[in-house]
Amino acid sequence: MPRQKIRSLLKILMVLVPAVVVYKLILQQYNYTFISEMRRALYVDVDVDKSSQTTKKLPKDKDGGCYMDTHCPDYHFSFYMRSGAENVMGPKICIQNKMVLGMMLDNVGHGLNIVIMNGKAGNITETGHFNMYNNEVEPLIKFLKSIEDGSVVLIASWDEPSSNLNDEAKMLIADLGSFAVSSLGYRDNWLFVGGKRATMRNFEKHLKNDNNLNKNGWPQEVELKGCIPKYMD
Ligand SMILES: *[C@@H]1O[C@H](CO)[C@@H](O)[C@H](O)[C@H]1NC(C)=O
Repeated sequence: MPRQKIRSLLKILMVLVPAVVVYKLILQQYNYTFISEMRRALYVDVDVDKSSQTTKKLPKDKDGGCYMDTHCPDYHFSFYMRSGAENVMGPKICIQNKMVLGMMLDNVGHGLNIVIMNGKAGNITETGHFNMYNNEVEPLIKFLKSIEDGSVVLIASWDEPSSNLNDEAKMLIADLGSFAVSSLGYRDNWLFVGGKRATMRNFEKHLKNDNNLNKNGWPQEVELKGCIPKYMD
């Protein structure tokens, strides 16, 4: 091989090898979901239809991965939610395939992330996030007490949801139908869907922060999806 060629090959390798190493390090650092989330943000998925040799674009993910293909019966609202991942990736709450809380909307924070939905009309009446590590519990209590009857309440944790939760706050959340709130611990991952004084099926997922089960020192994020029955008169 001529000298010139070898030299340019070496140059390419000198750039490529560190890039691959850095990429590998990133992969090890964060779990798979985070990476796929990043990929999703960077690329549009392309589906190659071999028979016709045309390139067909999949429906573009306009709603940040909220399109779930969840087919709910009439008089139901579909929902999808995901807890935060480590302290890096914010949680996400979607209603009817549309993001209502998430990093893209800039309405999330470490602690408890809450969406209030009108149980009849399905519109979002309020969202809030409450840092339960650095901040006091009073604003959360005020928020919980202001929830109107007939509301659906969706809660997603990020990072640390429990340190400053007191008995009063836990009681208010238990009144919405949560069982797990009483045992919520430091850096647990938790998702909940309930309602204020309305008989509805509740949804809940709780993953303890447990050194034996953690990945990279954190509990894995949890996901929940389903159909919320509309409140009737
Ligand atoms: C939600 O919908 C209800 C019923 O249509 C309406 O009364 C209420 O004002 C709406 N609230 C918001 C915040 O859009």
